[in-house]
Amino acid sequence: MHQPRRTPPAIALLLGAVLAALLFAASIERRTEAADRFPNVPLITQDGRTVRFYDDLLKGKAVVINMIYTSCKDRCPLETAKLAQVQRLLADHVGKDIFFYSITIDPEFDSPEVLRAYAEKFHVGPGWLFLTGQRDDITLLQKRLGLYSMTDAANPDGHQPSLMIGNEGTGAWMLNSAVDNPRFLATTIRNFLIGWTRDPADGRRSYSTAAPIAGFGAGGYLFQSKCAACHTIGGGDRIGPDLSGVTERRDGRWLRRFIQRPDQLLAERDPIAMALHAQYNQVQMPNLRLGDADVEALVEYMTRQANGKPGPARGR
Ligand code: HEC
Repeated sequence: MHQPRRTPPAIALLLGAVLAALLFAASIERRTEAADRFPNVPLITQDGRTVRFYDDLLKGKAVVINMIYTSCKDRCPLETAKLAQVQRLLADHVGKDIFFYSITIDPEFDSPEVLRAYAEKFHVGPGWLFLTGQRDDITLLQKRLGLYSMTDAANPDGHQPSLMIGNEGTGAWMLNSAVDNPRFLATTIRNFLIGWTRDPADGRRSYSTAAPIAGFGAGGYLFQSKCAACHTIGGGDRIGPDLSGVTERRDGRWLRRFIQRPDQLLAERDPIAMALHAQYNQVQMPNLRLGDADVEALVEYMTRQANGKPGPARGR
């Protein structure tokens, strides 16, 4: 038998081409797998820019995603205010290592202009997009992200404020409550998405800042988790007014009613509620479905804080 001394160039070229084709096919395979899970649907940002969900927003990125609708008076304002707090806590990471996306489930109403005004109300910083698009595309996204059953514009009471935190590059995803304590959320996001192992001491410190709430009783805990995203006590106005001295400034019965059903007082055209609303007209204080005992604990806590017992639960 006669063996050829060397591979003819044509064969080498052919082998090369086959190898390249195989590699290409493999990369397409990966691409379609991820893109299948996360469809590459077009969405429009609050600035009117069209982006592709997979290619532009997700591919290789660490992201925090939630579903919202701007006309929601129930939980969404608290959710967005908390995320804004998380964004401040994560500081420079947002827009660099981590991207925030809030996608509307009410695309007919939530135009880019409406979304832009909403983002401005909450003092949203860079690196956080508010997105609208075609209803079918958004429904598909919701399903693929596992955020579908959680939101229903027609039934606000069924709205579960959930937050999907994920890293497309590593394939790690986790579902969180969007109304958790913002410090705890920020720590979770930091640890989960960008790691904090380089400086474990820092990680411990940031975790411990999330912990002291326990020592503040029910009122302090409630205030931290449900109010501090919008209010401080003695730290100045935020999205809502500074609540320092509010227990002395207002009639006790009025205060309790307002905390429990601010929407109702406004609907009744209560003069104080109307004046407050005119002054803080950007965001309306949400009805947080608090029980009587919760309201008592909060009033007690606010009174205690006003009487000069400062503590870390004052809010940031
Ligand atoms: C999403 C933001 C937001 C959250 C969360 C929120 N508030 Fe408010 N709050 C406001 C705004 C805005 C106002 C001003 C009135 C208005 O526009 O509805 C207000 C007004 C108030 C007032 C009236 C202040 C005054 O001067 O009379 C009280 C009291 C109050 N909030 C207590 C609370 C408590 C207690 C919680 C937590 C259980 C809470 N708020 C949660 C936004 C918020």
